[in-house]
Amino acid sequence: MIKIAIIGFGTVGQGVAELLARKRDEIEKKIGRFKVVAVADLTGAMTGEFRLEEAIEHRRKGGLPEKKSAMEIAENEDYDVMIEVTTTRLDEEGIAYMKVALERGASVITSNKSIAVALMDLLRLAKRKNVKLLYEATVGGAMPVIKLLNSYLAFCEIRSLKGILNGTCNYILTRMEEEGLPYNQVLSEAQEMGIAEANPTADVEGIDAAIKLVILANTIGYPAKFEDVKREGITKITPQAFKVAMQKGYTIRLIAEASKKSLRVSPRLVKLNSLLAIKGTLNALMIQTDTAGEIFVAGRGAGKYETASAILSDLYELHRDR
Ligand code: HSE
Repeated sequence: MIKIAIIGFGTVGQGVAELLARKRDEIEKKIGRFKVVAVADLTGAMTGEFRLEEAIEHRRKGGLPEKKSAMEIAENEDYDVMIEVTTTRLDEEGIAYMKVALERGASVITSNKSIAVALMDLLRLAKRKNVKLLYEATVGGAMPVIKLLNSYLAFCEIRSLKGILNGTCNYILTRMEEEGLPYNQVLSEAQEMGIAEANPTADVEGIDAAIKLVILANTIGYPAKFEDVKREGITKITPQAFKVAMQKGYTIRLIAEASKKSLRVSPRLVKLNSLLAIKGTLNALMIQTDTAGEIFVAGRGAGKYETASAILSDLYELHRDR
């Protein structure tokens, strides 16, 4: 029986719980029986015998019923896998939960982009403890990239990665391209629709894309840090810039690019017929390799079930050989 603790029970945590409940039979056919032994977030916790639907219901009505902190759960519950899905804040909180789990000999699956500040250390710790840290959900939501780089392309030299890693920016730029609207108007629309964050600075200043680029770079062995990324956001792009670009057969996208020489996130001209001229909230990644040539992937970069799907794919990865 695989014992799972879910730390963080907001949108993604609840998405994971819903999918675990809804797809239990299929999941158990593939990886064997599992039980969620604890869920915890800032509102409280739930441990012992409970149904996932109950936990979701409690959370919807205001909070989880037990007055235990997430750290108490991380330190004391008996679990084999921690699913760490707290919010990305680039601080030590989420990382602290993960460290506790790894130190205790449990594997960790996370969607928390905070790992960008400690990924190499966490991977070393996991290796030392003979467990795994899996983080497919941190980059590109449902778009499969981490396992693609780590497994399928394991023996390729990755020469460069280039892509679109922020759905909010791509949505804003698409609307500007298609309707000639000014940046501010599209941003407030994106906020009203709930696509952009309440404080969208991390999106529009390229911070979110830079964090994801660091995670990708670390995954292929570049020891890059956030400070190494040359970064420019999309706040200065005007409808006029789009007009000029489009007359010449180009559009503008926020492109994240990593090569051995540099890491960069910036608005770039992209040919209108290029694969990277994708529209809306999609993410995409172009991978240049030595022996496999060029690989292109695209998919939904965010969303409750999309991110939860990536978490479940890591759960499968962890237990596929059982
Ligand atoms: N704010 C992010 C985006 C969410 O727009 O892509 C997914 O990390």
